[in-house]
Amino acid sequence: MNITDLTVRYGSFTAVDGVSLDIPPGGAVGLVGESGSGKSTLARALVGLAPVSGGTITGLPPGRTQMVFQDPYHSLDPRLTIGASVAEGLRLPRREREAEVGRLLELVTLDPAVASRYPRELSGGQRQRVAIARALGARPELLIADEITSALDVSVQGAILNLIRDLRARLGLTVLFISHNLAVVRYVADVIAVMRGGRLVEVGPADEVIHNPRDDYTRALMAAVPSIGDRLPVSGERRATRR
Ligand SMILES: Nc1ncnc2c1ncn2[C@@H]1O[C@H](COP(=O)(O)OP(=O)(O)O)[C@@H](O)[C@H]1O
Ligand SMILES: [Mg+2]
Repeated sequence: MNITDLTVRYGSFTAVDGVSLDIPPGGAVGLVGESGSGKSTLARALVGLAPVSGGTITGLPPGRTQMVFQDPYHSLDPRLTIGASVAEGLRLPRREREAEVGRLLELVTLDPAVASRYPRELSGGQRQRVAIARALGARPELLIADEITSALDVSVQGAILNLIRDLRARLGLTVLFISHNLAVVRYVADVIAVMRGGRLVEVGPADEVIHNPRDDYTRALMAAVPSIGDRLPVSGERRATRR
């Protein structure tokens, strides 16, 4: 998918300002930036949920993009069983649906038996897996994950990140992975794009952006993440830090 000079305006406020970004098939691009920088608006524009006032989006197969959001509590209907929620979007004859629901739940490493349970009976991490299973039911080529670990306990975040990596490898998914947390993005993405005030201030291979950031803002984001920031001076010349 190719995004060229994409702009989204709300009245006189420009939420996304001339963003160009390439997301190659099978690639995983991480979009990072502080809250309010325009990440979700960019994602929403890609699926037609935000008003595009300029620029182009090409190579995005219609109907082959699915989004997963931060809050797994609100993305599932509390009145529906997990099985019914996952089955909802499937265009399959009734008798094939149950098997497909089981397959999707197994894909996200849930016991297919959870199909008969209700969202309130599941943990946040399990609910997020269900939300991912629902998205996969539409057989997307591009999966947009917007802060999908941000509402979860740190102890389950890693498992969800591993799941995304695993699904990408198994299904050949293209992934746009969005987080305010650079450490989280780094774990999933091969390319990192850094957004600030609606603009991309830096885009590059993940290792390069992490180890040799060109923008001061990227350095500041890194300083906010101890596990990365520790190894990198935030400003001034790079020192040889050995720990
Ligand atoms: N529907 C909307 N109407 C007006 N302003 C909006 C709307 N959606 C988002 N914004 C504004 O756009 C900016 C970027 O928001 P958002 O894309 O949600 O940022 P992020 O996901 O990086 O936290 C914010 O200042 C937000 O208030
Ligand atoms: Mg957001």
